[in-house]
Parts: sequence; structure tokens; C-alpha cells
Amino acid sequence: MKIGLSTGGGDCPGLNSVIRAVVRYAVGTLGHEVIGIEDSFNGLMDRPYRVRNLTISDVSGILNRGGTILGTTNAGNPFRIKAGSKSESCDKSNLVMEAYRDLGLDCIIVIGGDGTQNIACQFTQIGMNVVGIPKTIDNDLMQADVTVGFETAMEVASDAILRLQSTAESHDRIMVLEVMGRHAGHIALHSGMAAGAHVILLPEIPFTYDAIISKIQERQKQGQNYSVIVVAEGAMETDSEPLYNSTSPGKKNLGGIGQLVAEKLNQLTGIDARITVLGHIQRGGQPCPRDRVLGTLYGVKAVDLAVKKDYGKVVVMHKHEMKTVPYAAVASSFRPVAQDDMYLQAAEAIGICLGR
Ligand code: F6P
Repeated sequence: MKIGLSTGGGDCPGLNSVIRAVVRYAVGTLGHEVIGIEDSFNGLMDRPYRVRNLTISDVSGILNRGGTILGTTNAGNPFRIKAGSKSESCDKSNLVMEAYRDLGLDCIIVIGGDGTQNIACQFTQIGMNVVGIPKTIDNDLMQADVTVGFETAMEVASDAILRLQSTAESHDRIMVLEVMGRHAGHIALHSGMAAGAHVILLPEIPFTYDAIISKIQERQKQGQNYSVIVVAEGAMETDSEPLYNSTSPGKKNLGGIGQLVAEKLNQLTGIDARITVLGHIQRGGQPCPRDRVLGTLYGVKAVDLAVKKDYGKVVVMHKHEMKTVPYAAVASSFRPVAQDDMYLQAAEAIGICLGR
């Protein structure tokens, strides 16, 4: 068999662990061919094609390496390539299909988050055989309990919170940490719980300053004159909208809510407040052991599907089992933190303020 392999969307730790597992299993164990596609579907849209045969030696030593050896992009949906003015776009999916057929690929294993899987889903509808693997630090892919990259991002964020705890305590300050996650609060919730944050603000629970200030005052009464607050980038005050920053023209990137929360709390309480925005540090660098193991499981399961020609499916880890779901089930939406999420309930049960 000739299996294509691509990584799309924002990178995350663990992508190389998946690539390594796919190549070691498909090429090394089963004797198939794996063709690495560069920069997601762009590698098939460009002429000449940007693809390369992946051998065992190509994936040697990458288990622990951050990023993706295949490159990625989150600009450029082949079905809607920007043309001319902002509102105009053209469909170049035919170039991708032409390359797919010309290269004689039996299928493509697409490693990606919801945006990339959405595009892959569209390709399944026009004749491409695809198997999907979920990755994103945001952990917001429908049907998957855990995506490649999330555990590492959570570890990085939790380490940052622990560091903020000690400096907050020394100076009697409010320390606000803004973390990623788009419109889902999984990173904020898990890292905040893991590192003893006093307040965690999530996109799923609009917050009030009154609730945050009561928590700060409750701590002061107990002799704790500092507080550490984790804010998901998609969080918002009640009756408001999420904030977007403007550092990448044409793109709607969330950001700025941490700064606003720090400023407002300083005004309202008179306590010195500082903001740290963790940003892409959550996405870079080596994957944690769990992401390396998860990446390996995902890679092997995807090859199993490809070999069985069980296409049009996404592999998901659900309730500690590797399962498969049809593309349409993951591509249409994203997975927020549910209101009855057990982590959310446990956080509130131990007195973490969720801003309500
Ligand atoms: O989806 C992953 C993610 O890191 C989000 O948490 C974040 O909002 C976004 O990507 C940042 O995107 P970019 O790399 O384009 O700045």
C-alpha cells in the first residue's frame, strides 16, 4: 500500500511521535510505503508536489522532538483559497485530488484538529480515502477524551502557575495567567487544578468580578494575601463577548482577556496585579511521556484502519479505549468543557472559584 501522511493546523507536542509510529508500523513492520506530505494539503496543491518517502531512518530520534518534521499550516483551505480581495476565494481542491491520484496514494492519514479534519471530511466526500488522527493542545475535538498535545500543554501551563504562586506570595500580588484553548477551557481547568490556582476562568462559564473579589477577600481573611488566577483566552465576563487580539491580520486570534482581568482587579481591589500570557510556549518543545505514548497508540490504530481500508473514520481515545468514529461526527463542531464535567465539579468542590 501507499499511505500518505500529513500534519495540519497549529502544531503541538507529540506530532512527531505519531509520525514515527505510523512509519515504524506501516513501513517497518508491515512493509508498506509511507509518503510524507509537506505543510498539510499545501504539499499536494503546489507544483511540483512537496512530498517525500518516509523511511525508518527518517523517523529515528524524533519521538521526543517538538513540532512536526512534515511542517504544517493553518492558512489555506484548498476548498477556499483566498483570491484577490478579502471576500473572494477559489476552490483548488481539484489540484489536491489530482496529486493524490497521480501519486497513487491508497489513502492519507491526516493528523489534525477540527479545522484540518473539517477539510479532510470534505475530501472524503469527493473521493479521497482518509483516516484521521486528532491533535490539538486545546483538547476540544468532538468524541475524543484526549488529543495529542493536550497533556504537554497542561504540564507547561501548570508549571507556569506553580512558578507564579511563589512570586505572588512573596509580593502579596494577584498573578493572572492567560492560557490558550480557543473557546474551550480544558487547558485552563486542568492546569489550574494541577497547580492550585485560586480562580479559574473558562469560556464555558461567564464570570463576574464580584465572584472573583469575594474569593480574594476570603483568602485575605485566612491570612493569604495573594491569589493566582488562570484565565482561558476565550473567557469572558457575563453579558460580554470573547476578546480578540490583532497581531495577525486577517485572522481572529483570541487574546487580551488576561490583561483586562488584571487591570480591572487592580482598580477594584487596589492590590498589585500582574499578567503573564503563556502563548506558544504551550505548543513548543518536547512532548511529555503521555503524549509520546498516546501519539504511538493513535499512529498504530490509524495504520490498522488504513490497512483494513476502513476509510472515512477518525481514531479517538474514548473511555480509555481506542475507538473509531465517522468523520462527520468530529468535523462539525468542537468539544467545550461540559457543565457536568467531573473535573469542573471537583474543582468547585474543593473551593476553586470559577467566577460565578
Ligand atoms: O488551536 C491551538 C491554538 O494554539 C489555540 O489554543 C490558539 O488560540 C491558537 O492555536 C493560536 O493560533 P496561532 O498559532 O495561529 O497563533
